Amino acid sequence: MPARPFRRSALIASALVVTATLIGSGAAVAAPGSPGTPRYGPGADGVGDPYFPLAGNGGIDVVHYDLDLDYTPPLLPDPAPLEGALAGVATIDLVATADLDRFNLDLRGLTASSVVVNGKPMAFAQTENELVIAPRPKLKTGQSATVIVTYGGTTTVPLDIEGYPYGWVTTYDGAMVVSEPEGSATWFPVNDHPTDKSTYSFAITVPAPAVAVANGLLVGSETVDGKTTWWWDAPDPMAAYLATATVGNFRLETDAPAGETPIINAIDVTRTPNQYVNLARTRAMLAFFEARYGEYPFVAYGAIVDNDSVGYALETQTRSFFSGSASEGTIAHELAHQWMGNHVSPGRWADIWLNEGWATYSTWMWNEERSIRTVAAQFAIVMNRAATTPTWNTVLADPGPTGLFGAAVYDRGAALLHALRLEIGDEAFFDLAKTWVQEYGGGTATTADFAALSEEISGHDLEAFFTAWAYTPGKPAL
Ligand code: ARG
Ligand code: ZN
Repeated sequence: MPARPFRRSALIASALVVTATLIGSGAAVAAPGSPGTPRYGPGADGVGDPYFPLAGNGGIDVVHYDLDLDYTPPLLPDPAPLEGALAGVATIDLVATADLDRFNLDLRGLTASSVVVNGKPMAFAQTENELVIAPRPKLKTGQSATVIVTYGGTTTVPLDIEGYPYGWVTTYDGAMVVSEPEGSATWFPVNDHPTDKSTYSFAITVPAPAVAVANGLLVGSETVDGKTTWWWDAPDPMAAYLATATVGNFRLETDAPAGETPIINAIDVTRTPNQYVNLARTRAMLAFFEARYGEYPFVAYGAIVDNDSVGYALETQTRSFFSGSASEGTIAHELAHQWMGNHVSPGRWADIWLNEGWATYSTWMWNEERSIRTVAAQFAIVMNRAATTPTWNTVLADPGPTGLFGAAVYDRGAALLHALRLEIGDEAFFDLAKTWVQEYGGGTATTADFAALSEEISGHDLEAFFTAWAYTPGKPAL
């Protein structure tokens, strides 16, 4: 790997700035601490995201999660119901952003048995989505703390707001772990909002021959008495929904040429070659998107191709997840998310089109590169949809919690980007794409940030453009 010390520290700095601005509104109930007299109060039970009021927490900024998990999948051959057993120890390094006599982590469906703060056992309580911790001594603004939560329970199949499985999804041969938008609380105590990015390390113990696949680089594995522990290290700041610890019967395939991004794929042993053959294009796609968005931002990449819950994909950071099979278009989509969504993440869930619009547009560009279909033709297909369809009926920058993954977010989002490109020209458009990643990489950004940067880079007045495309329903005139 090329050394990138400058970038790394620049990114962390920008993450802190953005986090501070956005979390401000949902921070602790107590007045912010002054250096003089601390005024202790409870951290809020959410960061203030209107779509998911209990997601994340006020008054804390998590720096690192070290997750030590022991998992026993359902017993074969025919488990009924589908249940696994998870036992975890989460060691969480955090910084108080308010004077705290109490703070929360998100935890759902699992039971904490002990909480230790800075080496001392602490009082705690649990409600449906919240683990409430009373640190003693109390925490002052800016103070670091190490919180160790021992927890566990029976895993099932949690459902998201639309009724789709997400979070720690128990499967016949392990678990499919895909947590967008706020499902991480189903498998570890977490500050579950993209505005708090953290680094991660994992030690995941599973019955041999199962393989546990997490984010980042594989540090090692060891089998003792029929159980294998898999250690992974993910040193790039990451939003909680992008963490994974997927368990199954995988074959690991590593491609790590000197000086290039290592690619570590995990292929379920039941997959036939045609279900993953398109992964061979990953390295060419990496080069294609690096030319448009700038250097790949993380230590590694790769895919998980699982055999469960056919048809789902998620851009889990550094290790995109595909169920069933990985199509060329979806491979391009999830890879592009590493810049657009993962490195630059939504400041509020309402801004999800910044993820999905860019990822969809990225596939349009890849399809053009491969002579599958031109960008213009793909744009025309969306523009030909009737004004009465959901693509045009929705406010793009506020699709609602059940509209997060609807047609507007993906297709109107991509169409907005192409319309913007037509409006400001190729040079400004690709300058904007790279500057966007550079400026907000490592942190989060909103639709307003994107509109402002578009104006700044192009020199065009784009107020009417963004009003029509992002802030009002209806089909914009071209
Ligand atoms: N971000 C994922 C992708 O575009 C989609 C996740 C879909 N989630 C859902 N709840 N429908 O690849
Ligand atoms: Zn996507």
